[in-house]
Amino acid sequence: MTAWLDRRATPLLLGLAAGLLAVAAGLLAGADAAERAGLAARWTARAGLPLFLVAFLASTLMRRWPGPATRALLRRRRQWGLGFALAHTIHLVALGINVIVYAPGRTWQSLIGGGLAYVIIYLMALTSTDAWQRRLGKWWRHLHRFGVYYIWFIFTASYAGRAFGADPEKRVVGIVFGSVMVAALALRLWPGRRVMR
Ligand code: HEM
Repeated sequence: MTAWLDRRATPLLLGLAAGLLAVAAGLLAGADAAERAGLAARWTARAGLPLFLVAFLASTLMRRWPGPATRALLRRRRQWGLGFALAHTIHLVALGINVIVYAPGRTWQSLIGGGLAYVIIYLMALTSTDAWQRRLGKWWRHLHRFGVYYIWFIFTASYAGRAFGADPEKRVVGIVFGSVMVAALALRLWPGRRVMR
């Protein structure tokens, strides 16, 4: 298990598989083309979430529960971030079809928060090499720290919107996943013992 977690390709393959499975599930479950596109958009966002949470919590997990598995997660944190970017690229394609073909009429204001998140996701992915880390110096840390909290915020805001919405099914999803996001932030920020790396 640890050897599998420690492979560079594991997070990327999981991101690809999760995104494609979410699209396939949406296509199979929808009654018509519009519903299929909507479900694909919704479920591809959900598919990327676990990968984001691994990248978001890798150093916290290692700090709190040091061991071979958490060390492997931390060593491959960059790849978990890239796996998330891959899964969310599939969300971008699915929601592009959804927004352009089936649900046009969104205002630019409604696109700005998610659109900026995509700019940040791709900036983080493009600069996730040692060479870029050296070249950008402290700006690399600012970009990646701001980015990870901004993505956390967009996920949490999306689920909070559902938690307080009118649709009972979406409300349950919003409450469950919104609570997961808040718990992840609490785990990350709660002071814990530090270990030498
Ligand atoms: C301009 C960019 C974006 C647009 C237009 C967009 C659009 C959509 C659409 C159409 C859905 C399906 C809505 C539904 O059927 O309920 C959706 C779901 C969702 N999106 Fe996006 N999205 C964008 C970016 C993002 C980003 C960057 C994130 C996260 C960082 C995100 C997180 C979510 C979440 C959490 C859901 C709900 C998934 C669930 O029900 O579990 N979106 N989005």
